[in-house]
Amino acid sequence: MIAALVPGSFDPPTNGHLDVIERCAGLFDTVLVAVIRNPKKAPMFTTEERVEMLTACTSEWENVSVGSFSGLLVDYAEHEKIDVIVKGLRAMTDFDYEFQMSQMNRHLSGIVTLFVATKAEYGYLSSSLVKQVAGLGGAIDKLVPPLVAAAIEERVSND
Ligand code: PNS
Repeated sequence: MIAALVPGSFDPPTNGHLDVIERCAGLFDTVLVAVIRNPKKAPMFTTEERVEMLTACTSEWENVSVGSFSGLLVDYAEHEKIDVIVKGLRAMTDFDYEFQMSQMNRHLSGIVTLFVATKAEYGYLSSSLVKQVAGLGGAIDKLVPPLVAAAIEERVSND
């Protein structure tokens, strides 16, 4: 049994995130997607809203569950009996920081981090760009799942 953890901010979840989660669902016995609770950031969606969106977007994969955490990722991973942390890489620009974090996590607990390359078509996709495009009236329907697009559009129109 191999349990994988896919952590992130997911504010909001994008098609790129779901591509990585789908890959993991096919590779590992169980996949826990975990939303970080970060009180210092001012997110568009609350942790609970992000967990709810991810739960709905991943419902077709039976071995995927969704949770949230605060504090050190490695402590959460140990608590959840995780074998590997999985991070998506869009481009080499992601690599430096992700590699640094993976080395720190390995130093802290010995846990392995695996990197999954996203589909090339999602190489430019990020949660912050999705929010920026939506805020300026651009189309986001090809960038995020329909229920996420509806939630963003509702949030943007109320601002
Ligand atoms: O989607 P993001 O914002 O790139 O996710 C980053 C995340 C949540 C994976 C990262 O910030 C994280 O692991 N935070 C937990 C704090 C921690 O453990 N820090 C030390 C490890 S380097």
